[in-house]
Amino acid sequence: MTLLIAVLNGPNLNLLGTREPEIYGSTTLAEIEARLQEVAKELGVKLAVAQFNHEGDMIDAIHALGGRHAAPGVAPELRAKADGALVNAGAWTHTSLALRDAFSGVSLPYVEVHLSNIFAREPERRVSVLAPGAKAVLCGFGAQGYELALRGLVATLRQRRT
Ligand code: DQA
Repeated sequence: MTLLIAVLNGPNLNLLGTREPEIYGSTTLAEIEARLQEVAKELGVKLAVAQFNHEGDMIDAIHALGGRHAAPGVAPELRAKADGALVNAGAWTHTSLALRDAFSGVSLPYVEVHLSNIFAREPERRVSVLAPGAKAVLCGFGAQGYELALRGLVATLRQRRT
């Protein structure tokens, strides 16, 4: 069966390309997603991609991707049950137990990804409340990190199936 992987980006990541390029680089989110689609093709998996500036919308999407009945606002492409997720939760990484609870509440395995090395930044960014629930955490490789995380997640899910 073809694996379905959700790629979920949190607040302000729609600004990639022009947002603090000295920290996040100049690659846009659309370019990252286009590259991920190429890698997905190579790996033989399907992607469901989305970006959220409202935390509750991301929580509703996680519930739907975890197989729960979708709340009315959830986009059609996020309504199929996913096998795993890549998540860059942006600043919610450092604060949102609700997001971690959403993933664990529907048993959706996830890899946490960040463009910057959050552990080399301001003290408030060095803590991830998502990390304890993650399969893996990958940060500091810039846009390339998404591709590496996708490859790692797919390999891990495939190992689990064999
Ligand atoms: C980020 C790091 C976060 O601290 C920040 O709030 C972001 C981006 C990253 O990808 O490096 O929005 O998640």
